[in-house]
Amino acid sequence: MRVLVTGGAGYIGSHTVLKLLGQGYEVLVLDNYANSSPQALARVKILAQRGFDIREGDVCDAAFLNDVFADFRPDAVIHFAGLKAVGESNQEPLHYYKKNVSGSITLLECMQAHDCRQIVFSSSATVYGEAEYLPYDEAHPLQPTNPYGRTKLFVEEIIRDWAKSWPAASAVLLRYFNPVGADPSGLIGEDPRAIPNNLVPYIAQVAVGRLDHLNVFGDDYDTRDGTGERDYIHVEDLADAHLAAVRYAQDHKGCEAINIGTGHGTTVLELLAAFEEASGKKIAHQTVAKREGDVARSFASVSKAYDLLGWRAERDVADMCRSTWNWQSNNPFGYDG
Ligand code: NAD
Ligand code: UFG
Repeated sequence: MRVLVTGGAGYIGSHTVLKLLGQGYEVLVLDNYANSSPQALARVKILAQRGFDIREGDVCDAAFLNDVFADFRPDAVIHFAGLKAVGESNQEPLHYYKKNVSGSITLLECMQAHDCRQIVFSSSATVYGEAEYLPYDEAHPLQPTNPYGRTKLFVEEIIRDWAKSWPAASAVLLRYFNPVGADPSGLIGEDPRAIPNNLVPYIAQVAVGRLDHLNVFGDDYDTRDGTGERDYIHVEDLADAHLAAVRYAQDHKGCEAINIGTGHGTTVLELLAAFEEASGKKIAHQTVAKREGDVARSFASVSKAYDLLGWRAERDVADMCRSTWNWQSNNPFGYDG
């Protein structure tokens, strides 16, 4: 089976491509390297001991996409390509709508033109917004609080309408919770271009000496210890979920949104302690004001993922911290350091 992976050079994409190759899929990666390095794919080739095609270009470029589809003739697409920084999306909303929403429309048009019927889309738990109840299940109201989140919601709706209009089509919208961790080889991992916005890469950079200390955003939330609680999901488990979703899409028509998390929350201080244990490093930290837009608690209902995909997360927070530290300590400055 032939799978086109948009954004396959990125953090989640590179881990998923590795798993696809391991399972014998034919893969083509399309990426414009807006937020990634070609090095990631070179390392995937080493780990997989298999080659695959790579095309550099933008999902918004219809002529380029048509060329790729004509040459590769994919059976399915996993669509990771997109911009993901919440703060930047507030500064440059039109850029986010263009790349994430227009890019996805161009991709869907191209899929239909080339009779490619199956898509797995990277959505996010951010589509839920402030929790009306927990855990978030897939029927929770959708009310994202920033332009990035709205691009995910709009693309979900567009894919839903596309699948309704084309009965042969099959779409799986995966709503990721908080992806962290790295491949156990330590050769691929998360490599933020700027100062990390997210907790785990930030902690990893403090541990390796690139950053001085962690700022803990608020300690008076209504949680066990007052710090924010999230459902961290190991990127290897997340990659496995994509393979399960590709299999599901082969056998089913229509469109399903599915949460991908563990179902358990971990607070900032608990994560910090787990990382100190995994790395043997003391992580300097101080409490500062809450970050605007942050929610107190977020965790997933995971029963739909198990019922439909037969998938559930297997790795715990200790695995997430160990593999992150293995990656960060072996590559203190990431791919190009
Ligand atoms: P990433 O930035 O590492 O990967 C995205 C990849 O897409 C990068 O390689 C980038 O160069 C490429 N890309 C971006 N715009 C492109 C375009 N117009 N054309 C071609 N390539 C383009 O991010 P990631 O963490 O691997 O996330 C993958 C997907 O999952 C994204 O759509 C993201 O919004 C979504 N997601 C991520 C998280 C998270 O916390 N990491 C959570 C929920 C959802
Ligand atoms: N945090 C800190 N200090 C930091 C960074 C984060 O204390 O330097 C805290 C946050 O306040 C939060 C927790 O750590 O309580 C996790 O924060 P992240 O930024 O790692 O994750 P978020 O849940 O805030 O956001 C992530 C992605 C979003 C996505 C959202 C929901 O960054 O893109 O999950 O899926 F929309």
